[in-house]
Amino acid sequence: MDPRSVKASTTVLVHWMSVVDTNNAGFVHGGTVLKLCDEAAGIAAIRHSSRRVVTAGLDRVTFVEPIEQGDLVTLTASVNAVWRTSMEVGVRVTAERPRGANTAPRHTNTAYFTMVALDDDGRPSPVPPLRSESEDEQRREREAQVRRRNRLTEREELLRHRQAAGER
Ligand SMILES: CC(C)(COP(=O)(O)OP(=O)(O)OC[C@H]1O[C@@H](n2cnc3c(N)ncnc32)[C@H](O)[C@@H]1OP(=O)(O)O)[C@@H](O)C(=O)NCCC(=O)NCCS
Repeated sequence: MDPRSVKASTTVLVHWMSVVDTNNAGFVHGGTVLKLCDEAAGIAAIRHSSRRVVTAGLDRVTFVEPIEQGDLVTLTASVNAVWRTSMEVGVRVTAERPRGANTAPRHTNTAYFTMVALDDDGRPSPVPPLRSESEDEQRREREAQVRRRNRLTEREELLRHRQAAGER
């Protein structure tokens, strides 16, 4: 498979937060943000792999600042790193007031999803290599490798604890 660039899969979603996205105080639900992140990450992963994909995991999500009703939210998703059948997709979320004195975009969230490509029978399927070109893309790829190593180390350690405790 030919390598694909990060840019080829980069996806931008814009959503205008309305009353159905918010709680009674006018702040956007965390779950609403996560759903939009998942959607943006899924599109980026489909673009990279040209396959159906599923969300296998969500490594980390940060809520840096609240998002309010009426904010325009922009989600930018790109593939950070790929392995055999899985990809890490990073999503950066910014929010802006479309009117008024302060319309500057604010960084509100970052999330890292693991998406797995599936073949027509629903089995994990190999994905093309990633071509990280800019310094930022290469940094994101290195950091994705650290998150994967930590994830696998944590899983092995938890398994060892369970086995030591005689659990399944
Ligand atoms: C994700 C899923 C396809 C993995 O299936 P599996 O039988 O465990 O397949 P494998 O063991 O071959 O793993 C496939 C890849 O998924 C990765 N993976 C599996 N579980 C994972 C997890 N919890 N977190 C991160 N990556 C995971 C593996 O590391 C592997 O990656 P690699 O091939 O790049 O090394 C399967 O668990 C699944 O379908 N889960 C449900 C997904 C879902 O319903 N999502 C919500 C709706 S989209």
